[in-house]
Amino acid sequence: MKYDITSLKLASEGKKRIEWATQDMPVLEEIKKRFEKTKPLKGLKVSGCLHVTCETANLVRTLKAGGADVLLCASNPLSTQDDVAAALAKNYGIKVFARFGEDRTIYYKHLNTAIKHKPEVTMDDGADLLSLLHSKYKEQTFKIKGSMEETTTGVIRLKAMEKAGKLMLPIIAVNDAKTKNLFDNRYGTGQSTLDGIIRATDILIAGKNIVVVGYGWCGRGFASRARGMGANVIVTEVDPIKAVEAAMDGFRVMTMSQASSIGDLFCTLTGDIHVLRKEHFKKMKDGAMVCNSGHFDVEIDIPALKKLSKKTRKNVRNFVDEYTLPGDKRIYLLGEGRLINLAAAEGHPASVMDLSFATQALATEYVVKNYKKLQNKVYYVPEKIENWIATAKLKSMKVSIDKLTPEQEKYLASWEIGT
Ligand SMILES: NC(=O)c1ccc[n+]([C@@H]2O[C@H](COP(=O)([O-])OP(=O)(O)OC[C@H]3O[C@@H](n4cnc5c(N)ncnc54)[C@H](O)[C@@H]3O)[C@@H](O)[C@H]2O)c1
Repeated sequence: MKYDITSLKLASEGKKRIEWATQDMPVLEEIKKRFEKTKPLKGLKVSGCLHVTCETANLVRTLKAGGADVLLCASNPLSTQDDVAAALAKNYGIKVFARFGEDRTIYYKHLNTAIKHKPEVTMDDGADLLSLLHSKYKEQTFKIKGSMEETTTGVIRLKAMEKAGKLMLPIIAVNDAKTKNLFDNRYGTGQSTLDGIIRATDILIAGKNIVVVGYGWCGRGFASRARGMGANVIVTEVDPIKAVEAAMDGFRVMTMSQASSIGDLFCTLTGDIHVLRKEHFKKMKDGAMVCNSGHFDVEIDIPALKKLSKKTRKNVRNFVDEYTLPGDKRIYLLGEGRLINLAAAEGHPASVMDLSFATQALATEYVVKNYKKLQNKVYYVPEKIENWIATAKLKSMKVSIDKLTPEQEKYLASWEIGT
């Protein structure tokens, strides 16, 4: 079987949306054109476990242009765009196994299919594919040249495997590249999380008390965009440095225990577990909304919310579930606690994914060229690749920057000249 998708009939809509995204991905297009000519990935079997969006479609088209035989499955049950999956299968000859709303059994069936493709290179967004490879397909893991990881949570899991001596292949931490997290996590998550919240609820952001849980790259982006739309933003953190930064950026910083009775809307962006839990739900106001934009659906303790709720959950709107607590207090959970920007909206805009996926494409080429020299470690993306991508993006934006003069180069490399 070459695909398992919701409906091939959606292909023409998906194709239009993929083409629309292409216009905003000039760096990836430049790479695609070079790949078409030089075929650096000729015959390479690639399995990608990524959010199946228009932008991902353009990444896999680039890999295919380079000669790769690509299979794509979803990295989240609620992030697949069914029309994109259909277009990939019908118009672009990609093996695609992803359905929006697939249950856990189908999700893992698709991951197993991705492994049976016998990939020589894999791509993950959250490390589910690699985790499955390491637990059930050890023999095959040894044959993989390398793997790319797209998100913070995945890199954390893989570094934990490396530390425990369990990692069986080289990893390129695409998430940790500046060309990824400075833009995708900050501007992409910042904008698309608000987009997801608005599409799910249609609330007015202005005047709301919005509690941002976690002030990392994603939290910073979301907090500043929510403020831009007129929200009163409160930040909670566990890292003292990030908390000082949030305070000096002008946000109110407090504990979740204090914030829980003030917030109108809570958004978790930590990569951590149960940052919103029973004691917080108990303090929340009637009508409070809770959502998550971190990778897994464990940031909000949903089982505890269910337990506290007198009645069973009531779906009041697409992506909005109402839980009624003692005293008839209502709490609204958005997008089942999964990444709200991908569940209820379309994920990051193409322009920012241009940088992330250019990094993925060049990291793949790098692995193919260098895998013999790589060990079973988590590696950063080489600086040369990052600089090439940033330069190409500037060129596409028609922005020029200065160059160091020979005098400046000499000065910056010296120590003799002082006061
Ligand atoms: N929604 C998306 O499309 C998208 C995009 C990129 C990354 N992500 C995911 O978002 C999450 C955050 O990513 P990031 O790059 O911002 O990570 P990060 O490491 O830069 O930031 C996470 C922050 O959360 C803080 N934190 C941890 N536990 C906390 C707690 N109990 N209370 C308050 N703060 C806490 C940490 O101190 C840190 O500052 C990860 O799961 C990542 O995979 C999602």
